[in-house]
Amino acid sequence: MSLKPQKTVVSGIQPSGKLHLGNLIGALENWVSLQDKYHCYFFIADLHALTTGYDNVKKFKDDINEVAVDLMAVGLDPEKCVIFKQSDVPEHCELHLLFSMITPLPWLLRVPTYKSKIDEIKGKDLGTYGFLGYPVLQAADILIYKADFVPVGEDQVPHIELTREIARRFNHFYGNVFPLPQDLLTNVPVMPGIDGRKMSKSYGNTIALSDSPETIRKKVNLMITDPARIKKEDKGHPGVCTVFEYHRIFNQPNVEQIRRECIDAARGCVDCKKEFLNHLLRYLEPIQKRRAEIMEHPKKVESVLEEGRLKASKIAAATLYEAKTSMGII
Ligand code: TRP
Ligand code: SF4
Repeated sequence: MSLKPQKTVVSGIQPSGKLHLGNLIGALENWVSLQDKYHCYFFIADLHALTTGYDNVKKFKDDINEVAVDLMAVGLDPEKCVIFKQSDVPEHCELHLLFSMITPLPWLLRVPTYKSKIDEIKGKDLGTYGFLGYPVLQAADILIYKADFVPVGEDQVPHIELTREIARRFNHFYGNVFPLPQDLLTNVPVMPGIDGRKMSKSYGNTIALSDSPETIRKKVNLMITDPARIKKEDKGHPGVCTVFEYHRIFNQPNVEQIRRECIDAARGCVDCKKEFLNHLLRYLEPIQKRRAEIMEHPKKVESVLEEGRLKASKIAAATLYEAKTSMGII
C-alpha cells in the first residue's frame, strides 16, 4: 500500500543545455524532496524549448539527453516519480489544441513573460503562433495530469494563474473536468552567476552540475569579490561580494563567522574562495558520482524515459478521453 497522499505534482524543465547550480537550488532539490510526498510527474519540456529555439536544433537531441542524465544524477528516482519527455506524450499537444479553442487572445497577450521574453531575446522573430501559445501548452502539461501543485519559480506564477483560468473556463463550458492547480513557490535565494548577475545560461555565467572539479575551480577563481578590497588588511563588505552569497547558500553554518572575519579583515579573499570551493565540490560530489555511473549505462536513460512515457501516457490518455467526451467529440 502506498503511504503517499493522493496529491499530484507536475513540473517541467526546458532542455536549454546543461543544468546548473541555479536549476539545482531553484528547482531540482525541491523536486527531489517532493518525490517522497506526492505523485510526481517531472518532464523535459522539449516542445517549450522549440518555441524560442526553433531555428537552432542541431544540439537538441544532445541537450535533451544531457538534461535526462542531470535529472537522474541529482536524485530523481524513477521508482518514486515519473520522468519523461514532453513530446513522447502527444496527449499534451492534443489537449493544448483543445484549450486553444477556448483561450481568448487578450489573456495570452497580457502574460508578463510574453512581452519580457520578446524584449530579452533580441534578433529573433518571436512573433509566432507557438510562442504566444506557450502558456496554453503549459496549462495542458499541468492539467493533463490533473495536478494539485506545480513547483515553479516566481516568474512562472502568471502561467499557473492562466492555467487555472483555462481550467475554469473549460469546466464552465463542458462540466467539471479539471482541478485548479496551485503553484508551489520555493523560497530560495536567487543564485548569482560567477559574474554576480543572476545565474543564467544566456549570460554564460553558470557553473554546470557536470563541470569538472578543475573547471569549477577556474570559475570560482574568476568570481568577483569586494572590489574595494585591494589588500588583505582592507576591511571587506560581504554584502557586495558574490563569494559571500555562495557561502550563504552552500555553507550556511559558517556564514556568520565568515561575515565577521571579512568585516574585520581577518580572512583573505583567496582563502575565502578556497573554502567555498571545497564546500561546493563536496556538495556536488554525490551528484557527479551518480552522473558518472549513469554515463556508463547510456541505455538506462533511454529505458527510464520509456518507462516514464508509458506511465504518463496512461493518465494523459484517460484525461484526454474525459475532456473530449465532455466536449462532445466522443
Ligand atoms: N515554463 C517552464 C519554465 O520555463 C517550464 C514548463 C513547461 C513547466 N511546462 C511546465 C513548468 C509545466 C511547470 C509545469 O520554467
Ligand atoms: Fe568576499 Fe570572502 Fe573576500 Fe569577504 S573575504 S570579500 S566574503 S571573498
